[in-house]
Amino acid sequence: MKILVTGGCGFIGSNFIRILLTETDNQVVNLDALTYAGNLENLRDLEGHPGYSFVRGRIEDMALVSSVMKEVDSVVHFAAESHVDRSIQQASPFITTNVMGTQVLLDAFRNAGCQGTFVHVSTDEVYGSLGPNDPAFKEDFPLKPNSPYSASKASSDLLCRAAFKTFNLPVVITRCSNNYGPYQFPEKLIPLMVINSLEGRSLPVYGDGMNVRDWIYVEDHCRGCLAALEKGRPGAIYNFGGQCEKTNIQVIKSILEILDLPEDRIEFVKDRPGHDRRYAMNSELAVKELGWKPRMTFETGLEKTVKWYLANRPWWERILSGQYMEYYEKQYGNKG
Ligand code: NAD
Ligand code: DAU
Repeated sequence: MKILVTGGCGFIGSNFIRILLTETDNQVVNLDALTYAGNLENLRDLEGHPGYSFVRGRIEDMALVSSVMKEVDSVVHFAAESHVDRSIQQASPFITTNVMGTQVLLDAFRNAGCQGTFVHVSTDEVYGSLGPNDPAFKEDFPLKPNSPYSASKASSDLLCRAAFKTFNLPVVITRCSNNYGPYQFPEKLIPLMVINSLEGRSLPVYGDGMNVRDWIYVEDHCRGCLAALEKGRPGAIYNFGGQCEKTNIQVIKSILEILDLPEDRIEFVKDRPGHDRRYAMNSELAVKELGWKPRMTFETGLEKTVKWYLANRPWWERILSGQYMEYYEKQYGNKG
């Protein structure tokens, strides 16, 4: 199969492409706009792979997406504006990419008559926030997004549902909890805390640090997306969670323990507006229908991740300095 992966230069998309090209016979076309979050260096080891090609462009560009769609069988759609704090600063890019871009992909998939599956990669944040004793999110829970980011993702989920109901498009929606692992952009909690610790900077904890996230190692999420592509029931939604609820302060203390550093740089700062208190996922449907379950424990996964950031200092230093943006021009010439 030839698969269009959108957002393949980001954190999860690049990990997904690595699994596709090293563990399956599928071919990949990676369509990515290379926003601040997209980094060609994430896929440096796969450049020149015979099954891989890269197209720089935006998913809301109908002409471009239509021409790419003619070549592929299936789509795994990761491209998004993904950071909640940025959506609070400015929501419009989230609407353009996450809402408009998803509709363009759905229309182009239908117009091209693609014969495979359209996997839409979504998030647990569409369900809103849980109280301390609430049961974990199930796929039929109501959508109650609280940030512009999660509202834009919920909107895209509904457009995918409509494409399935109205046009019978074989769309499968996946919703995953908080990912961590190699190549995560250092604006997200875990890489930010690792890098700030290594650089001797303070560790900003929003509010009381007692917000809970259900952490999952990125490769476990990617294997769920692959299972959804191969075995997902059209029209179905599958939750993926790590079975690993931790408060933010627990996560930060675990990082400091791995790095053998004291806790004195932890600094409690103003809370994120609309900050969801707790996420937890019930993934029983994915276990039952896809035969999926997470393999990595948090202890092993976190240690592996911290060691990756220690071993790949040039990767994140080039992000902090902005040099990573120059890599495209070196590889592909002028951005035009
Ligand atoms: P990311 O921000 O690291 O990467 C996003 C990628 O999309 C980048 O390469 C960027 O260049 C590209 N992109 C952005 N706008 C684009 C556009 N208009 N056209 C083409 N490409 C564009 O994101 P991530 O953390 O890898 O998340 C990937 C997907 O998974 C997102 O849809 C996100 O909502 C979802 N998700 C993320 C998590 C998580 O914990 N990170 C959890 C659940 C679901
Ligand atoms: O749950 C899945 C979602 O996880 C994805 O859909 C999003 O794309 C992804 O960004 C992530 O969203 P969060 O908002 O949960 O992730 P973030 O890493 O931004 O924050 C994790 C928690 O840590 C959250 O409770 C806020 C807190 N935090 C975050 C930062 C960046 C801090 O306390 N300090 C910080 O500096």
